[in-house]
Amino acid sequence: MTHARQQLTQVVAHRGASEDAPEHTLAAYRKAIEDGADALECDVRLTADGHLVCVHDRRVNRTSNGRGAVSALELADLAALDFGSRRTREFWRTRDEEPDWVFRPEDREDTSVLTLERLLELVADAGRRVEMAIETKHPTRWAGQVEERLLALLKRFGLDAPASAAESPIRVMSFSARSLHRVRAASPTLPTVYLLQFVSPRLRDGRLPAGVRIAGPSIRIVRNHPGYIERLKRAGHQVHVWTVNEPEDVDLCVELGVDAIITNRPRAVLDRLGR
Ligand code: G3P
Ligand code: CA
Repeated sequence: MTHARQQLTQVVAHRGASEDAPEHTLAAYRKAIEDGADALECDVRLTADGHLVCVHDRRVNRTSNGRGAVSALELADLAALDFGSRRTREFWRTRDEEPDWVFRPEDREDTSVLTLERLLELVADAGRRVEMAIETKHPTRWAGQVEERLLALLKRFGLDAPASAAESPIRVMSFSARSLHRVRAASPTLPTVYLLQFVSPRLRDGRLPAGVRIAGPSIRIVRNHPGYIERLKRAGHQVHVWTVNEPEDVDLCVELGVDAIITNRPRAVLDRLGR
């Protein structure tokens, strides 16, 4: 592999600095910004009463002390839950010192459910450019409502219609080509990322769904099919790889000239990149 690195590889904090703080919490995103991450990744789902919240799973059972599907719960139900204690207990077992994000009733915001609106506010107040990679989850169930609410929210922050894709601090990612198509139809200059868990025969030659300029392959694809990454790059696409946590995978991504590394460990990856 002979790709020279042409530009800085962007480091994207996956669900925040999610190795150091509970995923998708304000604590994890604050840490990612402190760590120097170039961008923040988050998954978004719609609550029963139409709020976009940053939660990965369909249900809240794994990441909180509650139970049930996000789509069946209202924001007030989610706000009553604690999204930090599970990780707190794990950390208490393995660390001598209490980490600074430990869940406490008096600063509940740090580990309670995070709305996308609150995350956008955090980014707006970061004091430096911090980009966002927003992934639409369960887009088929809501038949366009996730994208509609997302664009309406971005509009409130003046982020829905960038002058050009290159200037946009926001990109929308999805495993669903239909979801990305909806976003582009409403906002043609907002960049979209087509996430790939495997290389389908239809796309093996490096093509992406119409209008998509960024591919988001898993690190497993990169390890097993480096030639595919080279085809994507030759076709003129950007490549954003998830979830890259091991030093040798960081090196492989750099060698292949990937444009963004999505990681649970932004500080460690930045160190590896000499930044
Ligand atoms: O950044 C893309 C990656 O997050 C996709 O997988 O399951 O972690 O949302 P998942
Ligand atoms: Ca995701």
